[in-house]
Parts: sequence; structure tokens; C-alpha cells
Amino acid sequence: MKSNPIPARLRIIALTACCFWLASPLLLRGAEPEKSTPPAPTKDRVGFPKHYQEKFQVLRTVNKEKEQKVVTVYGNGLVAAITNSSQLPYPNGSVIVMETASTLSDAQGKPLLDERGNLRKDKVLGLHVMRREKNFGEAYGENRTGEWEYVEYRADGSHLTPPQESASCAECHVKAGAKRDFVYRGRFPANADK
Ligand code: HEC
Repeated sequence: MKSNPIPARLRIIALTACCFWLASPLLLRGAEPEKSTPPAPTKDRVGFPKHYQEKFQVLRTVNKEKEQKVVTVYGNGLVAAITNSSQLPYPNGSVIVMETASTLSDAQGKPLLDERGNLRKDKVLGLHVMRREKNFGEAYGENRTGEWEYVEYRADGSHLTPPQESASCAECHVKAGAKRDFVYRGRFPANADK
């Protein structure tokens, strides 16, 4: 009688592999409970705001010295025309951009300032953009913030937060409240009367 241990060992390995293969769908399903991503638009209807630095108006600037970042909030003409909160909600066609940029320092590491005394921008790191149009926002379901839709872009126009993941934006902006048309600040001071 010939005893050959190798095929036997192989048979065990094959059997084990086979069992795992059969069981894997069950194991994986158990390990990864279904993600419940809140609903969001599937298409980008916000649109990258080309030339916003020249075409839009600056609503406010936030200098973050410690973080070496400067945040600039811009609005298109329709947004810039809203100068009193009694004019809210924003008209359809409104676009608000919140730009975050890194800042420049001198050789000693002292931050450089521009002519307005704001930190000087180096590179644009990202743009939070919200656009209001008729019937926009429906796709967010219970997180709907009026007629706004949200996208986050890199400076080159590619997505940082694509529309499909923008429910997180709506989920938070819903807390800014309808009275502010779900815009936390725009050109206005931080909320005192929600
Ligand atoms: C955790 C809450 C939260 C999330 C998430 C969030 N935002 Fe905001 N957003 C704010 C707050 C608060 C402000 C006001 C910031 C300030 O104090 O200047 C703001 C400001 C803005 C502004 C400037 C207008 C304004 O409200 O003053 C835009 C545009 C904006 N957010 C878009 C977005 C987009 C796009 C996303 C998702 C990629 C997003 N936000 C995610 C809380 C949030």
C-alpha cells in the first residue's frame, strides 16, 4: 500500500478553501451591515463656479492664523444683492462659495498679509459650493434644505464631496434653519435668532 501524504494534505487544504469560499458571502454579509447612506442627488447640478474670484463678491473673510488657513465666502450677484436678512430667502440662481486656502508666510514664518490685512492666500484647498434653483434639494429627503444643492470641489473642478455624498452637507445645514434659508451666515453675523 502506497501512502502519499502530499495529496492528503492538499485535499485538506482544498476542502478548507472550498468551505471558506462557500461560507464567505454569509461571513461578509454578517461583518458588513448594510450602509445606510442618506439620500442625495445623483447628478452635479451645482456646477463648478468658474472664475468665482473675479466674478463673485466677497461676503466675508475668516482668518485662521493658527491653522494657517484663510476662509473666504463669495456670493454671485443675486446673493450679493441680499444685504438685509428681511430679504431672505435667497432667489433661485443664487450661488454661495466657501473657499479654504493655505496661507503664505515670510522666511521667519511670520504670516504675510494682503492690502486688507487678511492672511495672504497660497493655494486653494477646496470649495464648498451651494446653489439654489427651483425644485432643487428634493433628493435629500428628510434632510432637504429648501431648494439648495451642495457639492465640494478642488480648485481644478474635480469633486471632493460628490453629489452622491452631499447628504452630509444638507444634514448639517438643515440646522441653520428655514428662517436663514439654511445658510449659516452668508454675509450676516453668526446666528443669534434661529
Ligand atoms: C457640521 C456642519 C456642517 C457641514 C457638514 C457642512 N457645513 Fe457648510 N457651513 C456650516 C457652518 C457652521 C457654516 C458657517 C461657517 C462660519 O462660521 O463661517 C457653513 C458655511 C457654508 C457655506 C458658506 C455660507 C454660509 O452658510 O455661511 C457654504 C457655501 C457651505 N457651508 C457649503 C457646504 C457644503 C457644500 C458642505 C458639504 C460638502 C457643507 N457646507 C457641510 C456647517 C456645515
